[in-house]
Amino acid sequence: MNPEPSPPAVLCRGLRKVYDGGHGIFRKPSPSVVAVDGLDLEIQRGECFGLLGPNGSGKTTTVEMIEGLLAPTAGEVELLGRRWGGDDAKLRERMGVALQETYLPEKLTVAELLTLFRSFYPKPRPLAALLADVELEEKQSAWVGKLSGGQRQRLAIACALVGEPEILFLDEPTTGLDPQCRRQVWGLVASYRARGGTVVLTTHYMEEAERLCDRVAIVDHGKLVRLGTPAELIAALPGGHVVELEVERNGAALAAEELRALRSVGEAHLSAEGVWSLAVSEPERAAAEALALLERKGLGLARLGTRKASLEDVFVALTGRHLRDG
Ligand SMILES: Nc1ncnc2c1ncn2[C@@H]1O[C@H](COP(=O)(O)OP(=O)(O)O)[C@@H](O)[C@H]1O
Ligand SMILES: [Mg+2]
Repeated sequence: MNPEPSPPAVLCRGLRKVYDGGHGIFRKPSPSVVAVDGLDLEIQRGECFGLLGPNGSGKTTTVEMIEGLLAPTAGEVELLGRRWGGDDAKLRERMGVALQETYLPEKLTVAELLTLFRSFYPKPRPLAALLADVELEEKQSAWVGKLSGGQRQRLAIACALVGEPEILFLDEPTTGLDPQCRRQVWGLVASYRARGGTVVLTTHYMEEAERLCDRVAIVDHGKLVRLGTPAELIAALPGGHVVELEVERNGAALAAEELRALRSVGEAHLSAEGVWSLAVSEPERAAAEALALLERKGLGLARLGTRKASLEDVFVALTGRHLRDG
């Protein structure tokens, strides 16, 4: 007989979470919120899987249900082939979690905190390896309270790596970090994966998802909008290129219909920052048509650029909104 195939890292079927509205005595009752609305996901071992969506789209709620921290309202979750409600302590030892916000004790040193976390596991990762993983060797004697934001975030991830987990959950691991710290986090995700680990991460940075993830699920309003590799999702966009256009003073002086009416322009969206993104297949031709339109309307050009389409463009095309707009 063939051995049983190993189960996927994560399996969700019809996952749903409704937060009940408040019924406070002193406050008006608030309506209940459908945070996750029937999600089916299958994440393979060794994969880096991204949940990509704007603020409030249900990413944190989804991962917290997978992590066994929140009870689903309906649907099923399997993590590493197990369900929550059995030998939960054993299952918890096999996963590492870095929450969206972590409160770390300020008056311990980095080495003391990691030593404390190491004491919770039967076979913890060596302290020196953990410090090297997150490039905090030089900070091992520093108080946690004295670390920079990026160093703290790396320490939180080191805490998640202590038990040599088979799967690592990172909820918005680089939100608020500067580009250098962001790259350090990307590097540590890569080395964890090189050791065979599975990663589930949430982000609203499309560049991060494009760089790190084998597959991404784009979610909005708690529903799966699209699933695929970043390259597949981008290739499915009509055109494949984007012309970015900023009009002097006032982007709203142009109407989306006027831009869409241009022969080489497919879609046109105005961002909250006042930048028009035009989905096009022939960037030079579309740029020339857009410039001619500005001239006809007597509008000045502030900036014109072309680039290949990105995951952000996929999101805009699917939802009509920008990830950053929240
Ligand atoms: N504990 C809670 N009680 C009530 N509503 C919540 C709670 N947590 C999250 N929500 C709501 O659920 C929706 C999804 O939130 P969340 O999962 O945090 O999204 P994301 O991580 O994508 O920003 C939002 O509308 C949010 O306001
Ligand atoms: Mg979140």
